[in-house]
Amino acid sequence: MALQDTLNQMLQEAAQAVREARDASGLDELRVRFLGKKGSMTQILRQMGSLSPEERPVMGKLVNEKRAELEELMEARRKALVEFEKRMRLASEKVDVTLPGKEPAVGRLHPLTLVQRRLEEIFIGMGFEVVEGPEVELDHFNFELLNLPKDHPARDMQDSMYITDNILLRTHTSPVQARTMLTHKPPIRVICPGRVYRFDEVDATHSPVFHQIEGLVIDKGIHMGHLMGTLETFAKELYGDGVKIRCRPSYFPFTEPSSEVDISCYMCGGHDDHCRVCHGTGWLEVLGCGMVNPHVLEMCGIDPDVYSGFAFGVGLDRLTNIKYGITDLRNNFENDLRFLSQV
Ligand code: DAH
Repeated sequence: MALQDTLNQMLQEAAQAVREARDASGLDELRVRFLGKKGSMTQILRQMGSLSPEERPVMGKLVNEKRAELEELMEARRKALVEFEKRMRLASEKVDVTLPGKEPAVGRLHPLTLVQRRLEEIFIGMGFEVVEGPEVELDHFNFELLNLPKDHPARDMQDSMYITDNILLRTHTSPVQARTMLTHKPPIRVICPGRVYRFDEVDATHSPVFHQIEGLVIDKGIHMGHLMGTLETFAKELYGDGVKIRCRPSYFPFTEPSSEVDISCYMCGGHDDHCRVCHGTGWLEVLGCGMVNPHVLEMCGIDPDVYSGFAFGVGLDRLTNIKYGITDLRNNFENDLRFLSQV
């Protein structure tokens, strides 16, 4: 029977298309194409009018069976597709709870801050107080009161960055000595950490901005022995008991006598000719110091016949670089996280 053949062929075609359907919407299209009002099945039913009365019920039954068969196929495919989509989604959303977690990036203190805080602890332990002064300073405090009058040749030692004739970025932390003497009565024991500025080109050992810690002690009967004892204690606390200090005569207008102090190389103890910290000299220059010049005491309102004192100024960047074996000063200012996270 020709109509039956058409029906079988349509069913085969539909079954094939259903097997190949990739998703629910594809399947819906097939339902319209084969079973919808204008679909293939309806076309076939329309042609039943041409059949004989005996053939009609046979064919009707057959069409109903094939329609049910096709609906079943479609339902099975729909279920399979839903199941497949679910499995795909679960696979893509799968979380491996056994994977190690991501370590959050934790900030750290800058090496300069660490050494500054350690120094503050050391000096507070010896009875010092921490004071601060302005970075934009008057010539009067930065030079004049420290026995460096205008045209004093020692002003050449520091390339200063002036803002006006009388205002400059402080070239050292020593002006805080003068400020402290003018506002405090002896006994005085202070340290002053801070930024200082000089007109220097940037290279591995120079920067126009660097850091110092100033120290000042004024009392009755203060002498050189107190100065050396204080500096030795600080060096041993910072670098360990094995460290020694030595002093060399020097000149600063604000101290008399003046000295520069070296500490023995804490890295090699002077035993390594190729030491990258001391370059084989065994000693590291770290600070300037001396007994406060009586003229400076006088200018700052302290009677030099009653009181004496010592002062020192230490380079914080240098102390930090020695402590951590940093060979290029620029590292301290570039804030490269790979550098900072090593400390
Ligand atoms: N102010 C000096 C400088 O920047 C360092 C210094 C030397 C400070 C001797 C002092 C001192 O207090 O007594 O080079």
